[in-house]
Amino acid sequence: MGKIATFSKPLLFQSKLLCFSLLYLFTSILLAVYFTFSATKCIFRSSPFDPIQGPLFFYPSSYGEHKHALPTTRSSCNSLFISQDYWEIFDEIEKIRRNSTEIGAPLRYMQGNNAVSFGGNLSFQKRLSYFDHLENGIEIPCGFFKRFPISTSDRISMEKCDGLVVVSAIFNDHDKIRQPKGLGSKTLDNVCFFMFVDDATLNRLHFHNMISRRSKEFKIGAWRIINVSIDQLYDDNAAMNGVIPKYLVHRLFPNSKYSIWIDAKLQLVVDPFLLVHSLVLKENVDMAISRHPFFVHTMEEAMATGRWKKWWDVNGLKIQMETYCENGLQPWNSDKPYPSDVPDSALILRKHSLATNLFSCLLFNELEAFNPRDQLPFAFVRDQMNPKLNLNMFEVEVFEQVAIEYRHNLKQGGPNVGPKTKMASSDLFVNRSCGKCEGYLLSMWGESHD
Ligand SMILES: *[C@@H]1O[C@H](CO)[C@@H](O)[C@H](O)[C@H]1NC(C)=O
Ligand SMILES: *[C@@H]1O[C@H](CO)[C@@H](O)[C@H](O)[C@H]1NC(C)=O
Ligand SMILES: *[C@@H]1O[C@H](CO)[C@@H](O)[C@H](O)[C@H]1NC(C)=O
Ligand SMILES: *[C@@H]1O[C@H](CO)[C@@H](O)[C@H](O)[C@H]1NC(C)=O
Repeated sequence: MGKIATFSKPLLFQSKLLCFSLLYLFTSILLAVYFTFSATKCIFRSSPFDPIQGPLFFYPSSYGEHKHALPTTRSSCNSLFISQDYWEIFDEIEKIRRNSTEIGAPLRYMQGNNAVSFGGNLSFQKRLSYFDHLENGIEIPCGFFKRFPISTSDRISMEKCDGLVVVSAIFNDHDKIRQPKGLGSKTLDNVCFFMFVDDATLNRLHFHNMISRRSKEFKIGAWRIINVSIDQLYDDNAAMNGVIPKYLVHRLFPNSKYSIWIDAKLQLVVDPFLLVHSLVLKENVDMAISRHPFFVHTMEEAMATGRWKKWWDVNGLKIQMETYCENGLQPWNSDKPYPSDVPDSALILRKHSLATNLFSCLLFNELEAFNPRDQLPFAFVRDQMNPKLNLNMFEVEVFEQVAIEYRHNLKQGGPNVGPKTKMASSDLFVNRSCGKCEGYLLSMWGESHD
């Protein structure tokens, strides 16, 4: 009898606990490495030339818009440069705005009405079938299978926005509205700032006399406020409502060329023209996003999501990760043309090119199917889609120079993200082996057995 290769389980997987202990060890080592070698190269230090000096809005003192800023290490920057001045950058982006051929062939989207959900409730096989978009012209499912419930006048003003748009959202009164700082003198007239809110958020603004209930359009400083009737969207999954403006910004603003998404917990402190110029245009990429401060592998983020109860359905997380492992998700390695698999997605800068729009649509579809934690499908979609995304994943130091982070509003009832955790244990692969992600985990630990 010839030799038959018998696959014996590596020792690693004979103990489930070991599977986990190793992961935590691995994570702590990474953390240590990160804090030792983190580079200190930043782009921004000071406000741009010619900044607007006055306040954009006079807040009532009761609102407390600057309370509870989170401390950062704010490491000083060794190399800092603002390469060109505000006026040159402004002219360059204006030229792009006026040139309709600059962005290239647009993506075409599937139409629908009155579907069971906003994203169409597509099966995994169906979603996967749109990843390879080499055939131009094929229609992509990208939300809007139900009406996005806003007023007509708001919709018209959004469609008028044809250059750079800055977008944020506050649902369920989770954050405060803060004004961007360091704006150049032509920025307010040429950049649209849109904040999507729900009635709970509007109630607080009304309580502080910052808006009048009688008016049809709301503005607070730089921000145009859009009232979204979220009860017509995802009423059982509140966080998904925030995902719509975050990932479908190119559909809400179909004529815009660039966008900056900013989580409402952040206050922008650098002019959006300078940001788009230095992080997207100058780098010649489709999209720029901050890197996670210490995770590089999707699985680390998934474990942390379960462990810190950032998502209640731990079994759902497990199914999601196994689905991705089975369909080609690999741990981060130096062959990937990106420095990490895990973003900190609080700040996303996009050129509305075909690749970015496709990426955003595909990612949105994953979020609807599994859960609104957008770091989890990030690397799977990015690595499996075609055409490839040119991506600038910038360093945490840059992020810290660009935005100030604040704590969310405190709530009596605790965070309203969903029902109580489904399983007593929050470990992802606690019971049996590491399942369909065995290969992933082995290669993540540098022990690939083929
Ligand atoms: C518009 O953009 C296209 C593609 O980048 C470029 O070839 C063309 O010269 C631009 N036209 C103007 C008027 O700038
Ligand atoms: C979505 O599709 C799944 C099957 O893929 C089905 O079980 C579920 O009921 C659907 N959801 C709705 C709201 O129809
Ligand atoms: C916001 O929209 C909701 C639902 O359409 C409506 O009931 C509410 O009055 C609106 N809020 C304001 C302040 O206009
Ligand atoms: C893990 O095992 C326990 C008992 O052996 C069982 O009650 C529980 O449902 C299992 N959990 C999962 C996720 O399989």
